[in-house]
This record gives sequence, C-alpha cells and structure tokens, in this order.
Amino acid sequence: MNIAVITGASSGLGMEYARQVATLSEIEEIWLIARSTEKLNQLAYSLSGKACRCLTLDLQKAECYEEYQKQLTAAKPNIRLLINNAGFGKIGKVFDADSAEQAGMIDVNCRALTVITTLSLPYMSKGSGILNVSSIASFAPTPRMTVYSATKAYVAAFSKALREELRSRKIQVLTVCPGPMATPFLETANIIGSHSPAFENLPYCQPQQVATRSLHRLLRGKGFYTNRFIYKFYRVIAKIFPHNWVMKFSKT
Ligand SMILES: NC(=O)c1ccc[n+]([C@@H]2O[C@H](COP(=O)([O-])OP(=O)(O)OC[C@H]3O[C@@H](n4cnc5c(N)ncnc54)[C@H](OP(=O)(O)O)[C@@H]3O)[C@@H](O)[C@H]2O)c1
Repeated sequence: MNIAVITGASSGLGMEYARQVATLSEIEEIWLIARSTEKLNQLAYSLSGKACRCLTLDLQKAECYEEYQKQLTAAKPNIRLLINNAGFGKIGKVFDADSAEQAGMIDVNCRALTVITTLSLPYMSKGSGILNVSSIASFAPTPRMTVYSATKAYVAAFSKALREELRSRKIQVLTVCPGPMATPFLETANIIGSHSPAFENLPYCQPQQVATRSLHRLLRGKGFYTNRFIYKFYRVIAKIFPHNWVMKFSKT
C-alpha cells in the first residue's frame, strides 16, 4: 500500500499538506500525526475519498516512536512521501526561558524529525520523497528565538546531508524554509503581543502556496524551497556576510 506520512497535520501548514497530498492519485492512504485527535479526525473526514489513518502521538515523548514503529511493522507500507512538518517555537531570551519548553522544541523539531525519518527509511524506495520543514530562521542565528533557529538550522543541515546519502537510492529530500505564516504557530510561540519587529513588519507567506510549491519542487527533484523574493535575498545575505552582522537584522 502506497502511503504518505505527515507529522503536525492537525493545523496550519501540515493541514495544507494533507489537503494537497489527498489529490495525489498514487497515494492510497495518508497517515496523519499530531496530538489533537479531534482535529485529525475532522481533517480525515474532510478528505473524503482518501483513506486516512489518524495517529495521536506526542512527538515529545519517546513512547511515540514505539507506537509508530508498531504501526509500520503491522502495515508494512510503501512510504512514498514523508512530510516532517511538526514543530513549534517560543519567542524570548534564553535567560528568561522555561528549560522544559526549550528541551521540548529540540525534541519535536530535531529528535522527532530524525527518529521518524530513520524509522520510515526501510519502508521507502526509489522515487519516494522526504520533505522536511525548516524555516528562514535557519539561515542565520536568530536572537530571541535562539533555540528555535538552532533547531531549524539542524533540520536544514540534516536534510542536506541526507539528500546526498539517499541520492544513490533515488529517494528525494527537500528542505522547506517558509517565512512567517499566520497559523497557530504565532500563538504557541507567544509572538502575538510580544512586539516583535520581525513578525510585525515582514511579509507573510500563505501556507497553501508554501505547500503547493514545495510539493512541486520535491516532485521535480529539487533540494530546497523558500518563498518570496525577500527571503531568497535574505538567504544570500546570510551566506555572504558574517552572522555577527546579520544578527542585527535577524533579531525577532
Ligand atoms: N508559522 C510560521 O510563521 C512558520 C514559519 C517558518 C516555519 N514554520 C514551521 O512550519 C511547521 C508548521 O507550523 P505551522 O505554522 O503550521 O504551525 P501550527 O499550526 O502550530 O502547526 C504545528 C503542528 O505541529 C504539531 N505539533 C506540535 N507539537 C507536537 C507534539 N509534541 N507532538 C505532535 N505534534 C506536535 C501540532 O499539532 P498538535 O498541537 O495537535 O500536536 C500542529 O499540527 C513547523 O515546523 C514550524 O516550525 C512556521
């Protein structure tokens, strides 16, 4: 059975990915992963015509990997598409931060993405694809989102090297780096009302457009996607100039 696995499918960008993946005829079943069972069930119901399996997993907890592996062992699927999208951020200085929240960000954004990928790979073959959601915050360290930007830099570096490793197996890997999007992410990150010049002034990206265009890039065998001219330009600046200077502008 050809399946797609999408983490963080219960809202925002992940939900958009689910809607778009549901239109791919090659995919027979979509595995939707998040903590919010009700939201996943509603999404599955709305994707009528495409079989869905809702997996309520908390990707901060190690037990979730055992459960995911159990599902794989029982179903022996052919994973055609893996979308590692689940993630969250928190705004604020490390000095003032809750250590459990910081560790949770590392668990979901880095550890879960890595483990879900590793567990999924034996079920992937030639022509399959992995889409890992990073962020423009990965281009340069981002003060006031220090841990978040570091986790997204990990995602970008991991994905780039994995793409190289999987080249001979003909499994595609794409890194997606969206700019700000008006999703529940902003509330979770405490960005609303935090007076963040970056989030107040930067142009926003549409999750639907990010999902469509990044999926096209993956299908065309590309390795990287970011949207909007300003973020493509920022990426170049962050590559050329010292990060000590870039950080004056990347501060949230
Ligand atoms: N919005 C932005 O400005 C922005 C910009 C750049 C990159 N991104 C990245 O885009 C991705 C999607 O974010 P979004 O904007 O769509 O935000 P969102 O609407 O808050 O979605 C985050 C998803 O991750 C899931 N998730 C969070 N913690 C989880 C956990 N412990 N276990 C399982 N699932 C968990 C959430 O589901 P449950 O709460 O139901 O578990 C939700 O489905 C993230 O990786 C984010 O870092 C966002």
